Amino acid sequence: MEIQLWRELLEPYQLVVDELMVKFRYLMKEHRASGKYSPIEEVNGRVKKISSILEKMQKKKIKFEDIENKIDDIAGIRIICQFVEDIYTVVNIIKNRSDMTVKEEKDYVSNSKESGYQSYHLIVYYDIITLKGTKKIKVEIQIRTLAMNFWATIEHSLQYKYRQNMPSYIRERLTGAAAAVVALDKEMSTVRNEIMDSQNIFQVKAQIVAEILNTIQNLYSVANKREIIKIQDEFYKIYKLNDVDVLEKFSKELDIIAEGYRAQGIENDE
Ligand code: GTP
Ligand code: MG
Repeated sequence: MEIQLWRELLEPYQLVVDELMVKFRYLMKEHRASGKYSPIEEVNGRVKKISSILEKMQKKKIKFEDIENKIDDIAGIRIICQFVEDIYTVVNIIKNRSDMTVKEEKDYVSNSKESGYQSYHLIVYYDIITLKGTKKIKVEIQIRTLAMNFWATIEHSLQYKYRQNMPSYIRERLTGAAAAVVALDKEMSTVRNEIMDSQNIFQVKAQIVAEILNTIQNLYSVANKREIIKIQDEFYKIYKLNDVDVLEKFSKELDIIAEGYRAQGIENDE
């Protein structure tokens, strides 16, 4: 096939990957901005390389005209989570979205593959709109924990290195490592609540500090300099205490002060 035809074929898939990365990253941002724990830790995406498509066509005896029909992972998104529980949260989020329709799912988390591979796979339909109109495109979404991803990445490199001839002692090591991944994820799940709490507190604190700084900045245009400096000094003192409740109280008091100035400003305007 001519290179130009490959480009035409693959371009819509690149658009899907780009759009979905924006959407999943926005989901992370939305959680964090509202002080919530994000079930998504990281999002990556890629369009399958032409060489890999050719390889798959050969292996599975797929004709050129059947590429789009028979290869599900031309567009691929990988979602990495901190905890196993998060995987199912993400699956539900995807199932409830109106811009993605699940065509197929494989739960290699509850039922790991013979190799030890763990991951949750969804094939979803996603519409893109270009000058040519609307096109329904399949994309493979792999959802896995950091630990599962660590294993899959290394196992993939070894598969690549040895092709069909991976020595059995390495295979055995990998199987053992896969069991360790399961154990690690289980262990991590037992401390999940604590980790989520500490991440929450961290985010809540960052949020309050951002609000306080914003309010102080706004005060600059209405309050007198000496008062602002007094407020700033007070803030630095409170910040050092490292107590979210005290920060929250300070933020509320500051809001009242700012509100007072705003009311004054309105009076003056009249
Ligand atoms: P494909 O022909 O690869 O699409 O196989 P399939 O249709 O049976 O799909 P499956 O859901 O089993 O695998 C799809 C993708 O998951 C692969 O392309 C890999 O990226 C990944 N995967 C599946 N099995 C393994 C494995 O044993 N090790 C690693 N590292 N990745 C795997
Ligand atoms: Mg597949």
